[in-house]
Amino acid sequence: MRVVELVVPAHDADLATDRLWAAGASAIEERDDGDRVVFRTVLAADDQVSTERLGSLPAGWNVAFVDVDDTPAETWREFAVPIEVNDELEIRPAWSDAPLRPGRTVIEIEPAGSFGLGDHPTTRLSADAVWRAVRPGDRVLDVGCGTGVLSIVAVERGASSVVAIDVAEAAREATDHNAARHGVGSRIDASCTPLAEIDGPFDLVVANILAPTLVALAPDLRRVLAPAGRLVISGILAERHDHVIEALAPLVVTRTDVVDAWAAVELVAGATDSSAG
Ligand SMILES: C[S@@+](CC[C@H](N)C(=O)[O-])C[C@H]1O[C@@H](n2cnc3c(N)ncnc32)[C@H](O)[C@@H]1O
Repeated sequence: MRVVELVVPAHDADLATDRLWAAGASAIEERDDGDRVVFRTVLAADDQVSTERLGSLPAGWNVAFVDVDDTPAETWREFAVPIEVNDELEIRPAWSDAPLRPGRTVIEIEPAGSFGLGDHPTTRLSADAVWRAVRPGDRVLDVGCGTGVLSIVAVERGASSVVAIDVAEAAREATDHNAARHGVGSRIDASCTPLAEIDGPFDLVVANILAPTLVALAPDLRRVLAPAGRLVISGILAERHDHVIEALAPLVVTRTDVVDAWAAVELVAGATDSSAG
């Protein structure tokens, strides 16, 4: 298996972890090495795609690609556990044999190297927000679909159709695979179509992507929303996302939830800000 090895100064360790999660890691190995920290993860089969997903790296960060034996690289799977999103919804690894709790909707995910197993707070926050926001018959857009987990949540909640897009071909494949194994493949259209080429309107748009990308995508996120459409964003830090909200104006924030310093924010189009004035 081809893994990404990222070496950063110790004081950048948290930033580097965030960057790897946002680039699509579903499990990260971390090793202290004096004043440096060495991370290993799997992003994509192709080094070029992994490099693009990492984006430009700060000075002092070094990335390399290493071939490792698959057996140790897969040991994390033993430790992956079902994630309780809320009282009604659970995301679980496809291979988990943990007992099922009655009355819950269970979304089984095979990540295959893509982001979205439910173990990251932004996936959990986004899944909870989508669960609350979807109305029966909604047309939904999932920007940065990763494993397709949020698309499947939307369909489970009654969305009539979901357009799921991601820059990574591996994410498109993972979304198709997970949607099919969940029996909802016909309602989720996964592709690598850029957001700029997607036509709305969508009743609900969800985008769990890092802040700089959300800012860059803001005009298109607004464009594809229906007149009274709802937008869920995550991938942003609780203490540092005002610039993202500003970029999305005149959309209005209706709710913010925070877990482990990560935030998910729900916004609406065509509303008057009741907190203003
Ligand atoms: C944090 S993951 C979210 C995955 C999944 N939606 C979830 O909530 O767990 C972000 C995803 O966005 C994708 N991505 C990054 N930039 C993008 C862009 N400009 N357009 C579409 N997808 C993008 C990445 O490849 C990655 O799969």
